[in-house]
Amino acid sequence: MEDRSPILSIQNLRRDFKMGDETVHALRGVSFDIHRGEFVTIMGTSGSGKSTMLNILGCMDKPTSGHYILDGEHTEKLKRDALARIRNQKLGFVFQSYNLLSRTTALENVELPLLYNSKVSASERRKRAIAALEMVGLQDRMNHLPNQMSGGQQQRVAIARALVNDPVIILADEATGNLDTRTSYEIMMIFQELHRQGKTIAFVTHEPDIATFSGRTITLRDGLLKKDVINENVADARAALEALPPPEVFDDDSGADEDSSKASGEVRRREGA
Ligand SMILES: Nc1ncnc2c1ncn2[C@@H]1O[C@H](COP(=O)(O)OP(=O)(O)OP(=O)(O)O)[C@@H](O)[C@H]1O
Ligand SMILES: [Mg+2]
Repeated sequence: MEDRSPILSIQNLRRDFKMGDETVHALRGVSFDIHRGEFVTIMGTSGSGKSTMLNILGCMDKPTSGHYILDGEHTEKLKRDALARIRNQKLGFVFQSYNLLSRTTALENVELPLLYNSKVSASERRKRAIAALEMVGLQDRMNHLPNQMSGGQQQRVAIARALVNDPVIILADEATGNLDTRTSYEIMMIFQELHRQGKTIAFVTHEPDIATFSGRTITLRDGLLKKDVINENVADARAALEALPPPEVFDDDSGADEDSSKASGEVRRREGA
């Protein structure tokens, strides 16, 4: 029988931050489910509560009230060490700034989550890390240090690290936020491929074009769920990448005429990354 229960369910989730005499209500009662195999983007203006929510989904923070059920487990009842176990065994997290260990090779960075898993032998660990790096196209960079790689390559290492434990969901917070459009689309190709392979993904972004690559978009506003829409017409990241002008044109800053395209897959520079 097919399992129709959600992989992740939040119910009336609230998170308050006490700041001296004041309280910031970062989440004010958010509810939704994510089912196995969904690729969901989470949007909303700055300060709307996206990171606060993703940190709770990632078991890095606890809600002030409300329920968070992950893979059948009520996480809001768990203590710190139990949350750490869930984080390590069930979740893969990809950050905007990659968060790799700087003196550590790509391969070792990817092996890291498995070090805490006593059931995985050293040889199995290496095998799985290599497979994850191959999945993101980095078989030629396994022994490079982070500072010997481009931003896009570092983010691929981070994705491989998020995959290596075979998590029930991959959570990404602005994973393309530091990358130019071309590299962002390359990263989205990887997420789309993972989704095709059956992975469940929740991906925070404030870029509308990035959201078009997912099947569903949840929008937060002032700590509340404002919209939750199914995207009937998912854009293909590979096609969007191929539609971009060649890199040499793209990198030429001499009055690039790019603001005529408004549709999804639009050609646009991201400044100040
Ligand atoms: N640790 C904290 N202490 C106090 N206030 C916080 C804390 N973390 C977040 N906030 C506040 O909660 C609100 C939501 O912040 P959050 O970081 O979740 O927004 P966001 O949607 O991720 O924004 P951005 O797009 O800028 O990343 C903001 O008003 C923020 O100032
Ligand atoms: Mg944020």
